[in-house]
Amino acid sequence: MEYVTLYNGIQMPMLGLGVFKMQDKQQCEDVVYEAIKHGYRLIDTAMYYTNEDAVGRAVKKATDEGICKREELFITTKLWPTDMKNEDTAKRAIDTSLKKLNMDYIDLYLVHQALGDYFSGWRAMEDAHKQGLLKSIGVSNFYPNILANFCETVEIQPSVNQIELHPYFVQEDALENMKYYNVIPEAWAPLGGGRYDPFNNEMLKNIAKKHNKTVSQVILKWNVQRGVVVLPKSVHLDRIKENFDIFDFTLTAEEMKNISTLDMGYGDTRTKHFDPNFVRMCMGKK
Ligand SMILES: NC(=O)c1ccc[n+]([C@@H]2O[C@H](COP(=O)([O-])OP(=O)(O)OC[C@H]3O[C@@H](n4cnc5c(N)ncnc54)[C@H](OP(=O)(O)O)[C@@H]3O)[C@@H](O)[C@H]2O)c1
Repeated sequence: MEYVTLYNGIQMPMLGLGVFKMQDKQQCEDVVYEAIKHGYRLIDTAMYYTNEDAVGRAVKKATDEGICKREELFITTKLWPTDMKNEDTAKRAIDTSLKKLNMDYIDLYLVHQALGDYFSGWRAMEDAHKQGLLKSIGVSNFYPNILANFCETVEIQPSVNQIELHPYFVQEDALENMKYYNVIPEAWAPLGGGRYDPFNNEMLKNIAKKHNKTVSQVILKWNVQRGVVVLPKSVHLDRIKENFDIFDFTLTAEEMKNISTLDMGYGDTRTKHFDPNFVRMCMGKK
């Protein structure tokens, strides 16, 4: 496993397991436990995914069995817009996540969307960070202009920005801006989120063949090699193992460049984040 150092000195694994859409709690618990057993140390959940409790049980089981120590794990969860009405609602949401995860601290806590009163949410997060309840704090789905405004305004800088990043949505401008503010980029949907059919792309298949790897491993490595933390989600153990096995090869500069040519200039976010219906849904309206 490779690690990246956040600006506060904390080490974050470059690859973790995402658990979005793992609604079946027993399945989520089993999958997270197996992933930890296989060597995963970063787990990415959210209040919105309704499976923090399952993640907590898997972590307890793995640490009780001595598979790893709690300190070796890097658990991320997120604050949803409906909990960002004011500092009190955000504080309650942080407490609830800690209880559901059954943990006395969270490694990384993110503002899930730049919606609602996220500055109030951030102030509650800053307080919880100062109390040691949140080791690192960051944001998600912050576009370059929103992130720049945020970094120029808040007291404690965000350490991470989790955004959609894959070969079909390269977002070099977002990475440049994050570099300027020393914010580590983290990719959601690093495999394309089940869209774009990368597994049947001839160029990706040829690169994979050359390295004796799979398309999934090539895509994940492409992000990691440009300094992006990846969070592939799978409920299948063979894929979980496959996605983890990316640290023994290097893509050439030409391969990196060729993969980036798949960029469409927009991703799933374009259809969602710029749609007022999505905003209303995030704010709790049907
Ligand atoms: N911050 C945000 O707003 C946000 C938004 C979306 C996601 N996320 C985070 O990012 C994580 C990953 O994103 P995602 O789940 O949307 O997309 P993803 O990880 O890019 O793709 C997941 C899809 O790929 C399949 N898959 C996984 N490994 C594979 C392999 N080796 N070969 C072929 N198919 C494979 C999975 O199916 P199976 O499960 O059937 O294997 C699933 O359908 C989430 O779980 C979540 O933690 C965050």
